[in-house]
Amino acid sequence: MGFDNIARLFVAGVLFLQLHRLSALGVNELLYFRILRPPDIGYIFSAAPARDFGGDFTSSYDEIFLVPAEPADGCSELRNTHLMEGQVILLQRGGCSFVRKARNVEEAGGRAVLIADDAWDNDSQYLDMITDGTTDTPSIPALFLLGRDGMMIRRSLQRQSLPWAVISIPVNVSALASFPLQQPPWTLW
Ligand SMILES: *[C@@H]1O[C@H](CO)[C@@H](O)[C@H](O)[C@H]1NC(C)=O
Ligand SMILES: *[C@@H]1O[C@H](CO)[C@@H](O)[C@H](O)[C@H]1NC(C)=O
Repeated sequence: MGFDNIARLFVAGVLFLQLHRLSALGVNELLYFRILRPPDIGYIFSAAPARDFGGDFTSSYDEIFLVPAEPADGCSELRNTHLMEGQVILLQRGGCSFVRKARNVEEAGGRAVLIADDAWDNDSQYLDMITDGTTDTPSIPALFLLGRDGMMIRRSLQRQSLPWAVISIPVNVSALASFPLQQPPWTLW
């Protein structure tokens, strides 16, 4: 068997595994974003939009900042609001409701919020984020991110003392044949 065929089999195998895994999650419900910088986390990530609160992306952003909030859970007063105006904000699950987190980000001027699971080793379980029953729900897009992805992003930025990553969101992966190979390696294996 030539190298080409082996490579093709490999890609087909990866595709199969991915499709299989994603169908269990409901691939249609996921939304994708690509990290452009820093390059060490330059992958395409998947996130699950909240079920019954938050808005949709009305346009796509080729380059927008992804800013990790301080404090990470976004429940108390945010210390780095000066970086948040018009950007996408990364929070961590826990401490208060998803709605409270999203509202805090919206009030700080954030354009969208990604909430990463606080189970840092959990690379498989997307949560369906639902409202906490308050009527005052946020209107910015709110997405759930796997714990492992959130941890890898935050750790990379911390290591390099970067206040943000640069991302494209949302990314249309349906016409992107190489999409499975552009996902984070910790997702694939
Ligand atoms: C991830 O979290 C879900 C829900 O809490 C749990 O059922 C699952 O076992 C966890 N998986 C891992 C690998 O920790
Ligand atoms: C994504 O790309 C596919 C294939 O090019 C296209 O048919 C579809 O309309 C696109 N979806 C969006 C939301 O742009």
